[in-house]
Amino acid sequence: MSVRENLILGIESSCDETAAAVVADGSRVRSNIVASQIAIHRNFGGVVPELASREHLRQIVPVVREAVRQAEVSLADLDAIAVTRGPGLIGALLVGVTYGKVLALALAKPLVAVNHLEGHVHAVMLEAVASGRQPVLPAVCLIVSGGHTVLYRVESRSNNGSCQFSYARIGGTRDDAAGEAYDKVARMLALGYPGGPIVDQLAAHGNPKGIRFGAPQMKGNNFDFSFSGIKTAVLYHLRKHPEFQSEITAREQALARGERSAEAMRQLATPATLDLLASFQRAVVDDLVTRTIAAAQQNRVRSIFVSGGVAANSELRLAFEARAKREGFEVFFPSRALSTDNAAMIAAAGYPRFLSGQHEDCTLDPSANLPLV
Ligand code: KG4
Ligand code: ZN
Repeated sequence: MSVRENLILGIESSCDETAAAVVADGSRVRSNIVASQIAIHRNFGGVVPELASREHLRQIVPVVREAVRQAEVSLADLDAIAVTRGPGLIGALLVGVTYGKVLALALAKPLVAVNHLEGHVHAVMLEAVASGRQPVLPAVCLIVSGGHTVLYRVESRSNNGSCQFSYARIGGTRDDAAGEAYDKVARMLALGYPGGPIVDQLAAHGNPKGIRFGAPQMKGNNFDFSFSGIKTAVLYHLRKHPEFQSEITAREQALARGERSAEAMRQLATPATLDLLASFQRAVVDDLVTRTIAAAQQNRVRSIFVSGGVAANSELRLAFEARAKREGFEVFFPSRALSTDNAAMIAAAGYPRFLSGQHEDCTLDPSANLPLV
């Protein structure tokens, strides 16, 4: 006799992606729909909270419908709804939480609240388990995105028979998140928004030793990060070298014409710009990898998880693989699709909470600064 699977609908709206997904038994992704708002925020060089909320309102219904359609289930087949409660933009979160509550009420299904950061941890587990790898816990997890750069120690604990994780914060950024630094540097150089993917592609053509950016010295907690110094060093470098201005102007004009491909940007970038990008990226990647490995050593774990939008970075992946192998750690990344914000990770994180009966009612509120514990 086959045991019926549990279907969880995940809903994510914490920043600039409206996402919905259906995941079976917390491990098999049946659908994963993401409506990105990049085209809207691009003109402002960053996420505009009010515009994000309005766009979530427009997208939430069609995105959920599409997730259910692609999963080939009906709303009535769902066992629970898992929604991101925080952290994130309060207006954006409010749309997902309100919709999740109403849907749960209308369908008479349990509602589960998920911490967005816990979602990023589950994105790693989801794919590791699907590909037959079972990470050894405890692990150290680096969550690195446009909104977060934070290190946690992740342990497993049993809760009413369902395996859940507990989290201890080891360190985090004191100023900019790493993805934010990528986006700001890309903005200074007129490379378009978001900056991470384009800098990633162009940096591969430059000399990472072209310019020396010193590693940030962290007083107090050595597992904290700071990226505003590197970002400011790039700014000073551009001010000191006015010859960058003509190519910046040319790229601004190209962006205004809608030409934003990596190839178009590369043709408008001098070797000096490619070296600057490669050196910036090397400094950020070195810092992320060095502090994470040191945290893994101090915490005596064997597994390292890396998740969040910046985890899609090619050099970061290669550097982690190489260093982890040398130092005897196993490193786990989600695929690029699950690295950036998505709702499959929210459904997966909600599953053990659903099993252990941690259900919410209509009083559930979003929380912009929800801590991960
Ligand atoms: O996780 P995410 O989709 O949203 C946030 O929660 O922020 O991450 C988006 C961030 C942006 O800052 C973007 O520039 C960065 O991730 N990013 C990258 C790459 N792809 C996205 N940064 C570096 N290299 C990449 N390949
Ligand atoms: Zn995120």
